[in-house]
Amino acid sequence: MLAVYCSETDSDDPLRVLTIGDRPPPEASDDWTTITVKAASLNHHDLWSLRGVGLPDDRLPMILGCDAAGIDEQGNEVIVHSVIADRDWGGDETLDPRRSLLSERHQGTFAERVAVPRRNLVPKPPQLSFAEAACLPTAWLTAYRMLFIRGRVVPGMTVLVQGATGGVATALTVLGSRAGIRVWVTARSAHKREQALAIGADQAFEPGARVPERVDAVMETVGKATWAHSIRSLKPGGTLVLSGATTGDATPAQLSRIFFLQLSVVGSTMGTREELERLVQMLVGRSIRPAIQQTIPLARAREGFESMLSGELLGKIVFTAS
Ligand SMILES: NC(=O)c1ccc[n+]([C@@H]2O[C@H](COP(=O)([O-])OP(=O)(O)OC[C@H]3O[C@@H](n4cnc5c(N)ncnc54)[C@H](OP(=O)(O)O)[C@@H]3O)[C@@H](O)[C@H]2O)c1
Repeated sequence: MLAVYCSETDSDDPLRVLTIGDRPPPEASDDWTTITVKAASLNHHDLWSLRGVGLPDDRLPMILGCDAAGIDEQGNEVIVHSVIADRDWGGDETLDPRRSLLSERHQGTFAERVAVPRRNLVPKPPQLSFAEAACLPTAWLTAYRMLFIRGRVVPGMTVLVQGATGGVATALTVLGSRAGIRVWVTARSAHKREQALAIGADQAFEPGARVPERVDAVMETVGKATWAHSIRSLKPGGTLVLSGATTGDATPAQLSRIFFLQLSVVGSTMGTREELERLVQMLVGRSIRPAIQQTIPLARAREGFESMLSGELLGKIVFTAS
């Protein structure tokens, strides 16, 4: 079957090891099943995988891709929850120390078919297209958990989103603004700032700009490039929710400011299957749709990776299969 995969990794030149070609179809055992993939969305995670982050050589070759929407063996339209917990794990699967995302231990979704645990399937409502549904399991679920579960943000608060046009950042902006939160963003170009305003941001600033007033919470995925600004922008008692570090680890950590202003720094990773179901309900109930920049056939996946690597994304890139 056609798949997007890597047989080696390269920390400096990730696109060198990106391969589009034939891979054996998956076999499902025990309580797993196979899905015919209709759409799968690109995440920064896929670039990290090509760089070898979280993907040691002994797991290669590996099909990339965390997210998918497709059709199960009974003909049902489904969304694939990407967090694979240990079979015996009973609680919040994001807290299972042995959890993995599809494409870390098990073959990923950038293929015509993918094997997943049955319990990881969520019904796809007819109101969402396969492409829209494929945006939810990683970027949108991460944003949902950052805002509403880990950040405990409520209507009327002001939230600063660092970065505006990436997958998680656009999800934060759309979900937050539709939930009655005043969303401020930073972005690296005027064009990106305009895009953020168009999808619901209340104000958009240049990176590092002084915000008009300190905010209740900051949503941080950029890391080193924005960390100091994030800490500086929080009001006393405010919360920084962190789910990524695209530009690297933060130095220095601004420890004095964190304890003196009694700030909370909260980590957040993906979300649970139950949260994915609630996110789907929120999208359907409020007619919210993911911001998709481009939908392209799987065979042309390299174009999507090139856009993400260049930092020129405006929302999600979706690959279509089958
Ligand atoms: N913990 C988790 O469960 C989880 C889940 C999803 C993602 N993540 C992580 O979150 C990060 C974002 O993922 P994604 O899929 O949304 O990536 P993406 O679509 O490639 O978006 C990248 C984002 O980073 C911003 N950015 C990049 N370089 C920057 C710089 N030098 N200065 C300021 N902003 C910069 C961009 O802002 P502009 O608008 O200015 O371009 C954009 O919003 C990744 O590191 C990913 O691994 C973690």
